[in-house]
Amino acid sequence: MTQAIRYEKHGDIAVLAAQNPPVNALGVDVRRGLLDGLERAEAEGAKAVLIYGEGRTYFAGADIREFGKPLQEPGLPALCDRIEASPLLIVSALHGTALGGGLEVALASQYRIAVPNAKIGLPEVNLGILPGAGGTQRLPRVAGVEAALGMITTGRHVRAAEALDLGILDRVQDGAPREIGLSYAQELLEEGAQRRPVCDMPAPDPIDFDAAYDAVLKKGRGQLSPAVAVRAVQAACEAESFAAGQARERELFLDLMETDQRKGLIHAFFAERAVAKLPELEDIEPRELHHIGLVGGGTMGAGIATAMLLAGLQVTLLEMSAEAAHAAKERIATNLAGAVKRGKLSQSAHDDLLRNQLALATEYDALATVDLVVEAVFEDMEVKKQVFAQLNSVCKPGAVLATNTSYLDINQIAASTSRASDVIGLHFFSPAHVMKLLEVVVADKTAPDVVATGFALGRRLKKISVRGGVCDGFIGNRILSQYRACADHMVLDGASPFQIDKALTGFGFAMGPFAVSDLAGLDIGWATRKRKRALGMDPRARDSTFADALCEAGHFGQKTGRGFYVYESGQRSGTPNPDVMPLIEADRAAQGITSREFSDEEIVQRYMTAMVNEAAKVVGEGIARRPLDVDVTLLYGYGFPRYWGGPMKWADLTGLPEVLGNIQNWAKEDAYFWHHAPLLEQLVAEGRSFDDLNA
Ligand code: CAA
Repeated sequence: MTQAIRYEKHGDIAVLAAQNPPVNALGVDVRRGLLDGLERAEAEGAKAVLIYGEGRTYFAGADIREFGKPLQEPGLPALCDRIEASPLLIVSALHGTALGGGLEVALASQYRIAVPNAKIGLPEVNLGILPGAGGTQRLPRVAGVEAALGMITTGRHVRAAEALDLGILDRVQDGAPREIGLSYAQELLEEGAQRRPVCDMPAPDPIDFDAAYDAVLKKGRGQLSPAVAVRAVQAACEAESFAAGQARERELFLDLMETDQRKGLIHAFFAERAVAKLPELEDIEPRELHHIGLVGGGTMGAGIATAMLLAGLQVTLLEMSAEAAHAAKERIATNLAGAVKRGKLSQSAHDDLLRNQLALATEYDALATVDLVVEAVFEDMEVKKQVFAQLNSVCKPGAVLATNTSYLDINQIAASTSRASDVIGLHFFSPAHVMKLLEVVVADKTAPDVVATGFALGRRLKKISVRGGVCDGFIGNRILSQYRACADHMVLDGASPFQIDKALTGFGFAMGPFAVSDLAGLDIGWATRKRKRALGMDPRARDSTFADALCEAGHFGQKTGRGFYVYESGQRSGTPNPDVMPLIEADRAAQGITSREFSDEEIVQRYMTAMVNEAAKVVGEGIARRPLDVDVTLLYGYGFPRYWGGPMKWADLTGLPEVLGNIQNWAKEDAYFWHHAPLLEQLVAEGRSFDDLNA
């Protein structure tokens, strides 16, 4: 018996208790322990077996760290079959999250009981695979095809009450899993309950699986696993026998296991958990946070204030005038109303937040007692410096002074105070109460406990926090400015914005860069270009004017109904604006460029390569600590398709020599732009990957 499963006999009932913290993942020791325990229970003449998990959860799934490695027996599918075939009455008692292989073990059990706050689900598609231990065969038999497809193709977590309604659970009862499981098993024995293996249930009625496959593929923007899972459920309905359906499930599972998408999604899973693990913060206590100050209540400031309120923090918002403060409050109220609508907040909690947790102010003195203040004013160094000088004079000692700047030099901002060690960048993404990313930007003098406080705040706000260093644009916006410029260069050279958007949505982005510009507002990019030109651009750098021309005509994208696309009122997707191509052609003519054809493939390669190259510079310079920090930034802040794992993972999967070779080739036409990152060259020379730097 392995230590991962504790065996105990309780009258006629053998108890198999999983003890494999933190989440009782079904690694090889757990699987062996379950098999040994079952055999022992049968040999010792037990009449029933109770399976449950100690600690925070029933099995939360297969052990993801074993994926891609040689299988160690027993495999999970065979174990589930063995559990189902046992002559004993097997009861599973669920708590925490019974996910993936965990739910599959439960479905192979004869009876299932759960505590009320347990959640169940088959989230495998989110890891690029499908339930591979009978889940796609057993769940449709138990819950019907429609409910099973709904769960399997989205991976959603289902609460115990709903699972009871769907027939997946037999009973929901409060109590410790061991106790409720034992009493349920005892009751079943006393009433002479029969075994009822799911594999003996009739095959469920089929639906139009081709239509379901197409719909799921479209919704997943090219993600394969949910669509392939539809085919596995189809086999549950159409295969000759349960065993034949299982064999089909296995075949599809193994196919998916080999895909780059599986590798990308599992990389994303571990990367998003690794970003907050910073060795230098291990023993550092964050400062306490109760009361937050906000300077500026525009879209960004109001969004940040909303996020703080939703996390239970008290907020004082400072604006220039009573009218502006009132308008900020209106924005916050609208955001909170959205949270009520989405069921995230009750109406009474909404009212309480606005009435008791939010204060408005027009004088800096109101920020004297805040524990942390976030400045979210106009993106102008002089304005920011003035704000920080004021904060320096009113805020209490030990208050964290944070700026939400997206580009500016935080060292300079810190220098306008006499307490640079308290100054940090907290870069939120708009809308700040929705977007999951927080860049915690550490300046030269930022104190470690201030950094720890930034991460603690991120956790409290339920955000994914990534550590970045100071440079123009930090991790995300610095990389963005390069791949965005690459898209503009391709337009100058002959691709249309519409072709570029289409090629990149084909790659998996939710929107292409030009549609994104329309959404964000073309005036934002215009202001940035003006700022950069004013600083004096390198004469070798390529510039373009077609987007400026749209702005000069008053077209700022969605908010004015016209940009690269034309939007009918209230519509969020538009049709290509016919005025755009003539503007581009004028720009090409003025620069003496003869346009050429681009394939969608070349567009994707160039765009991605520009992204990876700048990202490699960002890692090489230590702005991002590890490649995975870049991956998570792009995944959570820039709509990067998760199934590629992030740009660095994409580069590893593509092969770094190919990426470097492309840059060197393209440098022949534009040596200024395609200047490769030294880190890329070094990794290629050493035969290493970006992932090697993550370890
Ligand atoms: N395998 C290995 N490690 C896992 C794991 C798994 N299935 N699930 C979680 N962990 C690890 C995490 O990496 C993390 O490790 P570190 O502390 O070293 O970072 C630790 O367990 C705790 O996880 P979280 O920080 O995520 O804790 P949480 O409480 O926020 O969430 C959870 C818990 C809901 C279970 C979440 O971890 C989760 O969603 N896990 C994945 C569940 C899943 O996808 N299961 C299906 C696996 S695939 C499968 O089962 C295939 C099959 O059909 C054969």
